[in-house]
Amino acid sequence: MSINYQDRIPNNVDLGSNRTLQRALEHWQPEFLKWWKELGPKDFQVADVYLRTATSVDAKGWATYGYVRMPDYRWGIFLNDRDPNRRIGFGDSFGQEVWQQIPGEYRATLRRLIVTQGDTEPASVEQQRMLGHTAPSIYDLRNLFQVNVEEGRHLWAMVYLLHAYFGRDGREEAEELLERHSGDADKPRILGTFNEPIRDWLSFFMFTYFTDRDGKFQLKSLAESSFDPLARTCQFMLTEEAHHMFVGDTGINRVVKRTLEVMKELNTDDPLAIRKAGAIDLPTVQRYLNFWFSSSLDLFGSETSSNAASYFANGLKGRPDESQYEDHIAIEQSYLLELPDGQGSTKSEQIPMRNAMNEVTRSSYVRDCEIGLKRWNRLIEKAGHSFRLTLPSTRFRRNIGNWAGVPTTPEGLPISAEQFGAHKNDWLPSESDRAHIMSLMQGVTEPGKMAAWIAPPDRGINNNPVEYEYVRLQ
Ligand SMILES: [Fe+2]
Ligand SMILES: [Fe+2]
Repeated sequence: MSINYQDRIPNNVDLGSNRTLQRALEHWQPEFLKWWKELGPKDFQVADVYLRTATSVDAKGWATYGYVRMPDYRWGIFLNDRDPNRRIGFGDSFGQEVWQQIPGEYRATLRRLIVTQGDTEPASVEQQRMLGHTAPSIYDLRNLFQVNVEEGRHLWAMVYLLHAYFGRDGREEAEELLERHSGDADKPRILGTFNEPIRDWLSFFMFTYFTDRDGKFQLKSLAESSFDPLARTCQFMLTEEAHHMFVGDTGINRVVKRTLEVMKELNTDDPLAIRKAGAIDLPTVQRYLNFWFSSSLDLFGSETSSNAASYFANGLKGRPDESQYEDHIAIEQSYLLELPDGQGSTKSEQIPMRNAMNEVTRSSYVRDCEIGLKRWNRLIEKAGHSFRLTLPSTRFRRNIGNWAGVPTTPEGLPISAEQFGAHKNDWLPSESDRAHIMSLMQGVTEPGKMAAWIAPPDRGINNNPVEYEYVRLQ
């Protein structure tokens, strides 16, 4: 169904035919706007931003671009078109018809899954709200705001499901999504990573590369769900999500590129000399990468999980790209885990495949993360340096799962807490790293100009030049 922009809430779900639902969402809309104005991007609400807005759920030509003030962005409800032949793709009910309504026995679990996903969307907007003033260029400023408005729309996507399918409980959950806040002492966001403040742009690029990519894999799992409206809304969210990871991928690429230029100019790889020249030395990039990658790994949950097993069995949450697997029942297979033995070493354990679904998803995520590193390392190699960026082991600095609280090297070798402490500043951002990064955070507002620590992008947005005025500041 095409998108209706005449309604107060743009939608392609024929919202007008369900007055009760429409009224309930129109009641939530001003609450959302109030939240956006209070906790969305600070100080740029009157700027004209060159944003894309969804106009169709067709993968080809689904958006238009134009100047919009962020509070006027048309946040709406867009689901991929329904496939009348879609069948349950995995688990005990494999091959049966997908659900258009929620079976009573899965109501509480699905609500929890939707709320947990929904909670991350506004959380990231809150985390990033101070970044506008320190954007390295107008181009980057626009990308930040594009990501922010789309995360706002992703919240709408989940709130629609809560209102449309969960009655009063759903409406209450929708309100609470605006009441919990990132880093709040009393009412924090549900997942740890979404309470980490993002004060600098290196962290923002790491977040959009690693944490938005976690989002991609969560959405891919939910896009397999037997609850068809959830699957369809996640499919469309994935279309938008791709840009967020592009921002992270190209952002880190441009940081590395600029650092290599400075290394060449000064003919040195001495981190202090590179810092003095106003760039970011590669070991610091590695430490930020270690921090955000390990933090994002926790979002997949424990290596062994009976919850994950029942989500799979009941058809609520599948494996990303489920159709690529041969066996969609996964009841006779097993998965080999390497776990800490509690005595400073490791042991192998064979567990039922369904209980390993978190680990299966985490492994596909890690493989996806490696693609960017290959690209960044190619730049470094071409510049003639032996340094390589690497993903740390999935055991490193974990706070959730079997490796939680087990000190290891970045390579995953178990070590003592003392040894970890002695190397902490080699492996994770130190106070002085953070101080240096913060010292570089000066906003650049002249179109086409870049901060000294980052190279310009290869091309602009929507075929416009890099020096286009992507944000008209008032
Ligand atoms: Fe999102
Ligand atoms: Fe995102």
